[in-house]
Amino acid sequence: MAPKSGGIDRYVLFGHPVAQSKSPFIHGMFAKQEGHALTYKLVDVAPEAFRGDALRFFVEGGAGANVTVPHKQAAAELVNLLSPRAERAGAVNTLVPMDDGQLRGENTDGPGLKTDLTVNLKLSLTGQRVLVLGAGGATRGILESLLECQPSLVVVANRTAPRAVEAAAIFKSLGPIEGCGYNDLPGLGRFDLVLNATSASLAGELPPVAPGNIARDTVCYDLAYSRGDTPFTAWAKQRGVERTYKGWGMLVEQAAAAYALWRGVRPETAPVLRALTEEAPVSIPFHL
Ligand code: ATR
Repeated sequence: MAPKSGGIDRYVLFGHPVAQSKSPFIHGMFAKQEGHALTYKLVDVAPEAFRGDALRFFVEGGAGANVTVPHKQAAAELVNLLSPRAERAGAVNTLVPMDDGQLRGENTDGPGLKTDLTVNLKLSLTGQRVLVLGAGGATRGILESLLECQPSLVVVANRTAPRAVEAAAIFKSLGPIEGCGYNDLPGLGRFDLVLNATSASLAGELPPVAPGNIARDTVCYDLAYSRGDTPFTAWAKQRGVERTYKGWGMLVEQAAAAYALWRGVRPETAPVLRALTEEAPVSIPFHL
């Protein structure tokens, strides 16, 4: 693809904070694969400045942007065109400039998770019981993709129960989904897949999953990623869970989906994932 602005294509990640982000490394490796020179920079922008900075970036010829916490919702309000997936999620993580000057908002977090679960980890969710902990932006970004995998049930559980009920209501036309509070967890039995989509790890905390919700063969997946265990994967391992995963695969796959939207080229993710998990140290848990 030819550079969009006559020079090197410029990409950025808008967030606050962003210093911990691995996205420049990931997109740098994708560009190397494609044999294309581009720049991908981190832009730490406060909420009140996000809208102006993002619009200016594209007016000045920016080729694409990712958006992370806390701007994903503001990004959904900024764009001219919102994909149905991003609209349902209420969040945009990828901004794509169109040829006619309009800005399109997409959400690649859910597809990124789905690719990691079903392709990288080779899990089949068909007919499985799935528990999602948390009901914030991260959860809303993944529910549609989880329901596409045809589980028998998705339960969204949250510290603030009404948020979980509200999140489930948004997605109920897409499949079997319920929302509840953590107090309800002991009565819900065993799940095949438990995803931690809370930001509890960032504070070194743990959502109160009931012992009966997991068994040795339950897959425990933390959307946060860190070099070592997160509080959630450590807890699961202590309870004898054999398969625990962190969000590295989702991170790389959502980036690949964004890259494909911008450049029309789907990068190979396996070498990037390997390089990240084997070489790039990140000491504290970090969210997309
Ligand atoms: P994100 O975009 O990362 O999802 P968010 O929208 O602020 O951020 O949502 C954070 C989620 O983590 C929420 O589900 C929050 O629970 P509440 O809705 O009850 O606030 C959850 N969370 C944050 N800290 C937590 C903790 N220490 N224990 C359990 N849940 C926590």
